[in-house]
Amino acid sequence: MKQEADILLRVEKARKLLNGNTSRKKRSEIGQFLTPAPIASFMASLYGRTCDNVRVLDAGAGAGALLAALVRELSLRAERPKSIMVTAYENDTKLLPYLEKTMVLCRNTCSETNIVFDGVVLCEDFISNAVADLDNGLFSRSGNRFTHAILNPPYKKINGESSVRKRLNAAGLETSNLYAAFVWLASQLLLPGGEIVAITPRSFCNGPYFRRFRKSFLNLINLRRIHLFESRKEAFADDSVLQENIIFHGIRGQRQPKLVTISVSKGPDFANATQREIPFEKVVLPGDRDAFIHLIDDDEGKQIMERMSRFKTPLIKLGLEVSTGRVVDFRSRKYLRQNQERGTVPLVYPCHFDKGFVRWPQPNTKKPNAIVCSDQTQDLLVKSGHYVLTKRFSAKEERRRVVSVVYDPDQIKAELVGFENHLNYFHARGKGMPSDLAKGLSAFLNSTLFDRYFRLFSGHTQVNSTDLRKVSYPPSEQLYRIGKRIGESIPDQETIDDILEQECGEDG
Ligand SMILES: C[S@@+](CC[C@H](N)C(=O)[O-])C[C@H]1O[C@@H](n2cnc3c(N)ncnc32)[C@H](O)[C@@H]1O
Repeated sequence: MKQEADILLRVEKARKLLNGNTSRKKRSEIGQFLTPAPIASFMASLYGRTCDNVRVLDAGAGAGALLAALVRELSLRAERPKSIMVTAYENDTKLLPYLEKTMVLCRNTCSETNIVFDGVVLCEDFISNAVADLDNGLFSRSGNRFTHAILNPPYKKINGESSVRKRLNAAGLETSNLYAAFVWLASQLLLPGGEIVAITPRSFCNGPYFRRFRKSFLNLINLRRIHLFESRKEAFADDSVLQENIIFHGIRGQRQPKLVTISVSKGPDFANATQREIPFEKVVLPGDRDAFIHLIDDDEGKQIMERMSRFKTPLIKLGLEVSTGRVVDFRSRKYLRQNQERGTVPLVYPCHFDKGFVRWPQPNTKKPNAIVCSDQTQDLLVKSGHYVLTKRFSAKEERRRVVSVVYDPDQIKAELVGFENHLNYFHARGKGMPSDLAKGLSAFLNSTLFDRYFRLFSGHTQVNSTDLRKVSYPPSEQLYRIGKRIGESIPDQETIDDILEQECGEDG
């Protein structure tokens, strides 16, 4: 079995060589992060039963690490296939000699184990080909439906005006990232019962821009396994990929499973991974119109989901909405003023957040404290009142993901106020809300429970208004009760958490 051991080493050698010859910047531009051998082997190990005639799709195959790992895995199984046919798409001609070589190694591996092998390398755009194949339906080129899809697709934004975007829209998928397009098309090209394993950023699990993708993906694919990495730098350590990646395994079919396996490892040390079975309905909540995928990876995660599940009030039932601050500072530059002066109103940035309230003005900030109030800026301003604000961006190292404060009109004398675009604001149909409701809501958003809950389903450091809109909140009477217990500055974390438990606990 010499070839079998060789094949991964050879592909890994090619990866290192290619990485050495292309700068990280270039690789990032073309979305070319090649999969290290241990990850490729792990991915290949996730496939279920082997069928007699395996048809593999590797879309964006690079040097062929993934298809090689899969061929190796299948050839080592006790129940081996009779034949393996591989279709590999790769549109970068520089990689083709490596990919062709990998195909030769696969052929050799198969011949050692009496498996018939056929490998096709297509130096073509996967997207146009797949869309054409799907369009042609029954009349598509034979061989263009697969039992196994294995993918580490390119991660790149798709330009809104591009022909790729138009082609995808015509095929029924609206997505702004190539990786989602690859996964969706590969899933469509699977035969019923066909399996997909992919390594992708985890942004699709909850990002608002991936809603349509998530919905059609979950309609098509039964999610069986999700693997998470504890540290976001680990999966592609030598590539310094900063995206948080996940690996998932799914089967094309109608019904979602009862349980999804969620596993976590620090990096590619899969032997030490922790693993648990989570009911599918806790991963994707029934009736969730956004179909968020909650990545609950431990007991604590389960407990958090359970504790949050007692809150059932949608924001709209509280009479509230959440929006992104309307003042985009670089577009309104000529109306911004460092300090308050005649004809201006307060402008609030995250730098005005201080101990649970907006402290305005801030003398020591580089950010403008005021915005001119004129006909041109009217639409950017809101009437003074009690608003709850959250930061939209937090640094990865920051202790809390969600940071909330109250804008209290009793502390800041002004008729109108501008909220800058780096923050979200909760409002009652464009106006302020009762003081106790604002304080209660802000305390809830600042609680440890909410912060942990938010981290569970958010892989990035951004706090989008869409994310906040879809959370279920405590009923208004509980928020009012919490609010009444908050004074002029926010209590310490322990006290907030105690208040939440006392007012909203099982007996609250
Ligand atoms: C993230 S890399 C992964 C490569 C390989 N699957 C692996 O795991 O090592 C994605 C690959 O897709 C290729 N690619 C990008 N856009 C493509 C397209 N439209 N059609 C086919 N291949 C594409 C890139 O050149 C790159 O090699």
